[in-house]
Amino acid sequence: MNIKNICCIGAGYVGGPTMAVIAKQCPNIKVTIVDINEARIAAWNSVNFDDLPVFEPGLADIVKETRGKNLFFSTDVDKAIDEAEMIFISVNTPTKTYGKGKGMAADLKYIELCARQIAKVAKQNKIVVEKSTLPVRTASAIKSILDETGNGVQFQILSNPEFLAEGTAVQDLLMPDRVLIGGDTSTKEGEIAVQSLVNIYSEWIPKKQILTTNVWSSELSKLTANAFLAQRVSSINAMSEICEKTGADVREVSKAIGMDSRIGSKFLNASVGFGGSCFQKDILNLVYIAKSYGLNEVADYWEQVIIMNEHQKNRFSDNIVSTLYNTVSGKKITFLGWAFKKDTNDTRESSAIKIADNLLSEQAKISVYDPKVTPSQIYSDIDYLGTRAYEDNKALLTVSKDAYEACNESHAIAILTEWDEFKNYDWNRIYKNMQKPAFIFDGRGILDKNTIESIGFTYYKIGSGN
Ligand code: UDX
Ligand code: UDX
Ligand code: ADP
Repeated sequence: MNIKNICCIGAGYVGGPTMAVIAKQCPNIKVTIVDINEARIAAWNSVNFDDLPVFEPGLADIVKETRGKNLFFSTDVDKAIDEAEMIFISVNTPTKTYGKGKGMAADLKYIELCARQIAKVAKQNKIVVEKSTLPVRTASAIKSILDETGNGVQFQILSNPEFLAEGTAVQDLLMPDRVLIGGDTSTKEGEIAVQSLVNIYSEWIPKKQILTTNVWSSELSKLTANAFLAQRVSSINAMSEICEKTGADVREVSKAIGMDSRIGSKFLNASVGFGGSCFQKDILNLVYIAKSYGLNEVADYWEQVIIMNEHQKNRFSDNIVSTLYNTVSGKKITFLGWAFKKDTNDTRESSAIKIADNLLSEQAKISVYDPKVTPSQIYSDIDYLGTRAYEDNKALLTVSKDAYEACNESHAIAILTEWDEFKNYDWNRIYKNMQKPAFIFDGRGILDKNTIESIGFTYYKIGSGN
């Protein structure tokens, strides 16, 4: 089947970039991205391409090239569903915050609402594609809603998980390691649905990199990939603490083990802990699934990845407090970076949030500078934790537009995100304007120890022993 019209429900970090790239690579397909969030759609339609709601290198150019030609952003969800032959569901699936599975299971209410809406609107056969990361066997739930509440039309469900990482979304979409498509390959209709999605990706991706599996393998592979990646970070972070105690250097250890082709060199950077919208959520979800099948050892194994990650954040803030003579009360601590990693404005689950919260509880004054994150986002992240009153957060935490200003008069600097610009700062100038002794806590290990120490700083580098 030759798809001519695609709809994507959800104009977020996944839906926006993914559909923009499909529109660019398939000029003959009309792609409409819909969202119930009017402000978000307005931002995607903004005249100024710097104001798009998702910042990704290269994305604005693609939107500029395709928007209004074959890429459209709209709040008219019903119309887009009605017109499309293929519908991607790319809505958020946060961890449940209530009821059974609270704090662990994925909340599928947005997915279910989408399925019900598709069922209500669809007057022709549709292919429905799960793009959001979902627990194994969600496809069967979607299918039963579609079949039982629909107008008697046929639905095919595909799983097509997205592996893009933020900050490199466009590159990852243009040149993915692989594309994974799960479908019902036991029926002819299922086979046709799978092939029609394979055809779309084949426009720019070599066939041998497009894997087709059954739906359950596809759903589980996405959770597995994220669990493995997060596990690598927790493993190297666990080693970073041993390095600090023993006098080893975690970067040397990473390099040494990474050259073993069985281990590989990527994803071995020690840090203040992983963040982002996926890792924690997906592992908690995996743990929940394992427990629900009574697989307690499996659940415990993966849960440890999260426990280690929490520990890495807490020990970073504990170390700041103990190094600053066991009190940070009334002291100014500057945060360089708030995003969960460089080259993104996304702050979801960013370690900076938890570390700030810990230090605020010790009555520190925090001054934040991040090149891409807005002040309102920073305040909403810290308020969301509900640890203290909104007014207290406002009084203790300030946000600067300028890194040098953020560092003025401060007792210590904590580097939480590995933004490239931090490496090129005039550290002499920063040192001069700080309280003495001036401390740097480099949670990303990006500065050069000798250079920084020769200026006069007391320098802590994550994973580096004395
Ligand atoms: C290992 C290390 O590979 C080697 O670098 C180190 O110097 C010594 O320890 P070895 O014990 O000889 O070498 O065997 P290896 O091939 O690593 O296998 C170890 C065990 O893991 C075996 O029981 C093997 O069957 C098992 N294994 C390995 C798996 O079950 N699955 C795998 O994918 C790989
Ligand atoms: C991740 C997966 O990489 C991607 O395939 C999936 O589709 C979504 O989840 P993302 O969350 O965008 O992508 O970022 P990623 O680059 O994986 O980083 C996640 C977190 O791990 C960040 O906080 C990052 O700083 C941290 N990290 C990563 C480390 O601390 N050390 C590393 O070596 C790698
Ligand atoms: P992700 O990182 O998975 O892309 P986001 O939170 O960035 O997640 O984006 C998900 C988007 O889905 C949000 O903009 C949200 O408004 C939208 N959304 C959620 N439920 C619906 C729905 N029923 N119909 C349309 N859009 C929805």
